[in-house]
Amino acid sequence: MSKQIKLDSGYKVIEFEELDSTMITLKELAVKGCDIKTVVCAKKQKRGRGRQGRSWVSPKGNLYYSFLRNPEDKNSKNMFAPVFIVALTIVDTIKTISNNKIIPTIKWPNDILINRSKIAGILIENINLTANRNLLNIGIGINIVSNPINTLYPSTNLKKENINTSYREVLQIFFDKLILFEKIYISKGANEIYKMWSIFAHKIGDPISVKIGGRKIFGTFNGLNEEGGLLLLNELGDIKVILAGDIFLL
Ligand code: BTN
Repeated sequence: MSKQIKLDSGYKVIEFEELDSTMITLKELAVKGCDIKTVVCAKKQKRGRGRQGRSWVSPKGNLYYSFLRNPEDKNSKNMFAPVFIVALTIVDTIKTISNNKIIPTIKWPNDILINRSKIAGILIENINLTANRNLLNIGIGINIVSNPINTLYPSTNLKKENINTSYREVLQIFFDKLILFEKIYISKGANEIYKMWSIFAHKIGDPISVKIGGRKIFGTFNGLNEEGGLLLLNELGDIKVILAGDIFLL
């Protein structure tokens, strides 16, 4: 059973009581040619997906949704810009909902934290429509009333942080803000987005470790390269560009 809600931003939310994963349902709709402003939201997911093949525990009470976006050109240096736009949008949404009392932070590339604990996660998958037409399937999970325990990173939820809201309020504000950040991206470019992202992210010199496969490497955060890759400075003074991996703040 599903319900449809039209947001002021023009996005059309299809809300389900329960799904395996909003990523799967949105992909099916996209393949059938749904509008680009379609959002699939579920009150509960049976097989929520996280990054790096992990699962995303999805009980009732939190927010789970997926939406579409056109990708950047495959060889463009802005290919990863959507990741940063979406992370910034979530930070600004939570900031607004808390009346600026809570300023979330971002852990590269797109984990959203409050007091170093994860409050929201973003998963971006590619939908291959035809040989030369792809769409991004962007899935977001926001912990509103509960959070999993025994996870790779500590996590929290909005209620625990004294932010009372509903998933519909979060959706409304998120898509209003998404439109604003997309406009900034179009008018000022990816560098402006990286600059704004950096305000909320770890600072240059912060000690971090990166887990790539079974290996962990240590160093300090040294900013982003022009594609949004993380620059890790090791103790020998070498800089390594990280394009994928799990980052831990030390
Ligand atoms: C992460 O591992 O940090 C990303 C988590 C993304 C979870 C969301 S919940 C809505 C959408 N549907 C899923 O199955 N996963 C994403």
